[in-house]
This record gives sequence, C-alpha cells and structure tokens, in this order.
Amino acid sequence: MEPTRIDVASATRTYPVLVAHGLAAGMDRWLSAAGIGERRFFVSSPAVWTRHGETMQAALPNVPPILVPDGERSKTLHTVSRIYEALIRADADRGSTVIAVGGGVLGDTAGFAAATYLRGVDLVHVPTTLLAQVDSAVGGKVGVNHPLGKNLIGAFHPPAAVIADPRLLDTLPRRELRAGLYEVVKYGVIADRPLFDRLVNGLPEVFARRPEVLVDIIAASCRIKAEVVADDEREGGRRRILNFGHTAGHALEAVTRYRRLRHGEAVAYGMLVAARLAADRRLLDKADLAALVELIGRMGPLPSVTDLSPEDVLAAMQRDKKVIAGRLHFVLPHGIGDTVIVDDVAEKDIRRALGSIGVRGRESAP
Ligand SMILES: NC(=O)c1ccc[n+]([C@@H]2O[C@H](COP(=O)([O-])OP(=O)(O)OC[C@H]3O[C@@H](n4cnc5c(N)ncnc54)[C@H](O)[C@@H]3O)[C@@H](O)[C@H]2O)c1
Ligand SMILES: [Zn+2]
Repeated sequence: MEPTRIDVASATRTYPVLVAHGLAAGMDRWLSAAGIGERRFFVSSPAVWTRHGETMQAALPNVPPILVPDGERSKTLHTVSRIYEALIRADADRGSTVIAVGGGVLGDTAGFAAATYLRGVDLVHVPTTLLAQVDSAVGGKVGVNHPLGKNLIGAFHPPAAVIADPRLLDTLPRRELRAGLYEVVKYGVIADRPLFDRLVNGLPEVFARRPEVLVDIIAASCRIKAEVVADDEREGGRRRILNFGHTAGHALEAVTRYRRLRHGEAVAYGMLVAARLAADRRLLDKADLAALVELIGRMGPLPSVTDLSPEDVLAAMQRDKKVIAGRLHFVLPHGIGDTVIVDDVAEKDIRRALGSIGVRGRESAP
C-alpha cells in the first residue's frame, strides 16, 4: 500500500512526511525518490537500535550506525561532538545524509549535528516515539540543551524526508505512547474537531496500537503541524497555536526539574489549565470542557502535582519564552477545533485554573 504523504513547505525546501505501517522496512525506495544520496549514516541510540536496528539494517544494508545515548541529559553539545567525530572518521562529505532513528531527543541531537557538520548535510528523520512522529520530526527545529536551560542551542534544519512508521511504536512503553498522544489531543483541540472525536470514540483501538488507527492520527497530526509551520516557520504568529497547553505545561516541567513529568504529561495538565481559563471566558462551553477533562482522564493517570506551590508555577511561567514584553500569553481553545491567543489573563484566574489540577498551595491543602 502506498504511504500517506504530507508535503511540508519550508522556506528552504519542501519535504515529504510519509506515514505507513511497516514503512521503515521499505524506506530505500522513498529515500531515493526524495533524492537522498548514497552516502548515508544512521544515527541512533543503543536503546532504539537493540529493538529496531535489524529492521534498519535490512532496509539499508550498507549504512553504518553511529550510536549515542538518548536520555534527555545526553541532549548536549558533547553528544553532538561524538556524532561529528564518527562522521569525520568515516570521511562523511557534503553529499552525505544523516538518518536519525529515535525519539525526539535523538532526532533533535542528530538533527543539530546534521545542521552544523560541514555547514549542513541532509537529514532524514525516522522517528520511533509517537511524540517524535507527530511533533518533533516535523517543522525543522533541531537543537540541544545547555546546562543553563533546555533547547537553548539550536537551528532550523528541515529534513529531506520524514519516515513515520507506527510499527516502530510496538516496542514503546505505554507511558511514552500516552505522552505522545497528549500532543495528538492538542492538535484535535486547536484545529481538528473530527480528530478529537475519533480519539474520544476510538481510544481503546489507539491503545491497542491498531495500525490503521495510528496511521490516521499520525497523518492528521502531521497535516496540522505542516500547515501551521508552512504559514509561520519561525513562530512569529500562527505557529504559536501549537503552544496550547504549553504555558502551564512548561512551567510544571521546570518546577519539577524535568524529572517527574514526561513533556506530554505536562502538556496534558497545561491543556486542562488553558481549557479552564477558556471556560471562564465562555470561549469553551461546559460540554466541551467536560469532554476534554474526560478524555484526558480516560487516557490514564498523570503524576500528581498537588505538592507544588502556585507561586513557583506562576514564577516559572513568567520566566518562560511565552512572555512577550512582560505579558504572559495563553493559547485558549475557542470551542474544540479553534483557538485564540490572549495576553490579559488575571493572576487570580490562573491560580484558580491551577487549583483545578490540584496546584493549590499550602493554605488550602487538605
Ligand atoms: N524539534 C521539535 O520541534 C520538538 C518538538 C517537541 C519535542 N521536542 C523534543 O523532543 C524530546 C522528547 O522526545 P520524546 O518524547 O520522543 O522522548 P525521548 O526521545 O526521550 O524518548 C523517550 C524514551 O523512549 C525510548 N524509545 C524511543 N523509541 C523507542 C521505541 N520505539 N521503543 C522503545 N523505546 C523507545 C528512548 O530511548 C527514551 O528512553 C525533548 O527533548 C523535546 O525538547 C522537539
Ligand atoms: Zn509539546
């Protein structure tokens, strides 16, 4: 069967995102069709390569793997320089291609190496987490963390192609699957009511990893991200709608020092906070708020945040990138399927919304 194809228009190139179950095994054909040269290097991690290295090597037998660790703590310039070293030792030239096989951490890190090695070589993403398939592999952002903050070092380096194969998700722990699924919920809420409804009605099939269901939600998500980033690659305007759930989400991640919550879990909380603010303003009616709360509840448990203080969370929001000229921006759902961006949310309203997810502070704790 032909893969579902989404063409992403970027300032410098248009590239295909191809989605099909089992696609990775036959990727040679698609890489050649995308004009990828014959000098190719896999960059992956031991954790991913143990599970999927055989598939990769069967698909592209003569491509050597460069393996680097993929924990968030390894998303550093040090890991990038290990990739450079392997590329240099293998005489990789300007015409070479880096094929990044892994989750978002690996894709961002290998992507940054590809963006900067010899001032840039071709990059192909073969994302192996749901989050990477619906989010990080699309849009062209690559980069690493600095000891002083997350994702502070980076570049725009759109890939030459994205090979999204949900079969690779068969080995993904359920919590990681869920973490990616919260971003799919996000796409539904910001731009695609039918996608949201399909999640509501088909959640068991999603968790059963039914191939056609995963292909559907991955393609729908990539279509939305593709549309949004084509309009606005560098996040001046429309790209900001992708930050739905991320104002409070990033703050919760920071306050828990990136240890307690998967990014998607923090976004789940952030979406609940934003939805509550939207309901306060009558942008979201009660039934839609309840539908979102129920869907997130049915997806599974979220790590508790009831011990956090609203002051710390508010302070972390103020430090985040989404503060422009001193004003905190929130992306609020306008019904399910549309958004508005506001910058006039009162602190007391944010406190109340945080209270709805259990962040209440000492005074009112039981
Ligand atoms: N570039 C972007 O636009 C963008 C967007 C969103 C997130 N990100 C970045 O993505 C990162 C998070 O990515 P993530 O959620 O994919 O997490 P991750 O890359 O940390 O992967 C999660 C875990 O799953 C393991 N894993 C990966 N594939 C597997 C598989 N198929 N089977 C079993 N285990 C597997 C990994 O080894 C890792 O332990 C963050 O660093 C974030 O900043 C980037
Ligand atoms: Zn996100």
